[in-house]
Amino acid sequence: MSDTRREFIAAIDQGTTSSRCIVFDRDGRIVSVGQKEHEQIFPEPGWVEHDAAEIWANVQEVVAEALERAGITREDVRALGITNQRETTLLWDRATGEPVHNAIVWQDTRTDALCRELGRNVGQDRFRRETGLPLASYFAGPKIRWLLENVEGLRERAEAGEILFGTMDSWVIWNLTGGPDGGVHVTDVTNASRTLLMNLRTLDWDPRICESLGVPMAVLPEIRSSAEVYGEARGALAGVPVASALGDQQAALFGQTCFSPGEAKSTYGTGTFLLLNTGSEAVNSYNGLLTTVGYRIGDQDPVYALEGSIAVTGSLVQWMRDQMGLINSAAEIETLASSVEDNGGAYFVPAFSGLFAPYWRSDARGVIAGLTRYVTKAHIARAVLEATAWQTREIVDAMEKDSRVELTALKVDGGMTSNNLLMQCISDVLDAPVVRPMVAETTCLGAAYAAGLAVGFWPDTDALRANWRRAAEWTPRMEADVREREYKNWLKAVERTMGWLEEEN
Ligand SMILES: Nc1ncnc2c1ncn2[C@@H]1O[C@H](COP(=O)(O)OP(=O)(O)OP(=O)(O)O)[C@@H](O)[C@H]1O
Ligand SMILES: [Mg+2]
Repeated sequence: MSDTRREFIAAIDQGTTSSRCIVFDRDGRIVSVGQKEHEQIFPEPGWVEHDAAEIWANVQEVVAEALERAGITREDVRALGITNQRETTLLWDRATGEPVHNAIVWQDTRTDALCRELGRNVGQDRFRRETGLPLASYFAGPKIRWLLENVEGLRERAEAGEILFGTMDSWVIWNLTGGPDGGVHVTDVTNASRTLLMNLRTLDWDPRICESLGVPMAVLPEIRSSAEVYGEARGALAGVPVASALGDQQAALFGQTCFSPGEAKSTYGTGTFLLLNTGSEAVNSYNGLLTTVGYRIGDQDPVYALEGSIAVTGSLVQWMRDQMGLINSAAEIETLASSVEDNGGAYFVPAFSGLFAPYWRSDARGVIAGLTRYVTKAHIARAVLEATAWQTREIVDAMEKDSRVELTALKVDGGMTSNNLLMQCISDVLDAPVVRPMVAETTCLGAAYAAGLAVGFWPDTDALRANWRRAAEWTPRMEADVREREYKNWLKAVERTMGWLEEEN
């Protein structure tokens, strides 16, 4: 090592359920972690909100905690990276820094009707060519429009330039760099690619779409690369360059070092997101996937990705714990599911916010199908885990159709990968090996890598690849005829979720 002083990169992961700060060393190893959950606010069925002030307070707390646990000061931190829950939408007052409303979370379905209306006679692919996305309540643009229409006087203030929009990357960076006192208002290409407002080819806001959605361009942040210095932090990290921003799923792609076209990863957290690097080509999907920006390093060309998004996976386990009370901890789902041989004929399709990829059906709602008097809570636990596996299978099938690349192995990460039964089940239904790296916190790692590249802490992506180490691997054990039968049953259950909501009014 050339330098004598110990130096580190810190990454903030502002997630859906918690905020984390992780300190990494030069080998990409975790030195310390600070983490804090925030409140999930459910004002009405289908609505999900976060208190952005609470989130900012938590972010500051976890940063201090991580530094303290590592026994380092801000002088030891070479750069700070940011990663975040994507699409979650906030508008705040430029002068005071106060949010004008709770943040509307990506899972929130309140803009369903608005999206249908925006699709008009063209349908949900109205902006797909420009944005790579279907018109769905998942994305930020319609959420901005909802806020402008539903918060008293907000549209006028927005048009007068008093209001700023941001996803959580923008909110955190703006506050870190001074807030009302000179904070920089930026986002990165990956986060911007989830708004329905950015043109994938120009990597800039699309004025025509902004107009169609009724979003004044004055509220929008500047779109920057994923790895570059946006500004210097103030406060506890005073002087540390803020040097990366990536949506959490793109950060995981980066952290898994999927730098070549054809490399893919799947992250199992609140939801599950499978991203395939497609290189310099933005591949259109004809099978219900999203075209998105994977990352952009400095002024290099952007790298695109195909994405399969599943709204509910880990959150179904949380639901079993918090709403149903069938387990006391997330880990217990494995114990319970392992107490039986199979699902006993039950299938659980958790279409709580409609169905995301590959269906994009907002009229779907959850079902448990195949119930008989025989089924126990253990069978349901098994069905819960299998739901994650089958949803993965559907995405992989769509990806193979769109990319014509056959999956040879799947790199996985995220909180659910500590569940062995689930990992085995995924390998079984995909009929492919599943591999997990040593650092399963790939989201933070990816943000740290990007920040480290931006300040020259790591020389290039090859140096990062050398850090990737396999920790565990699962290989398929399921008979082909069982796989086929179960997949067919799963698809039948999926069909039963559709059309549950009928068009209101
Ligand atoms: N042993 C387990 N088996 C099944 N699910 C688990 C297990 N441990 C954790 N989970 C689930 O994993 C999820 C947490 O994983 P992770 O922290 O990666 O989520 P996340 O989506 O990244 O969250 P955030 O967006 O807040 O960062 C929770 O939904 C939890 O229910
Ligand atoms: Mg996360």
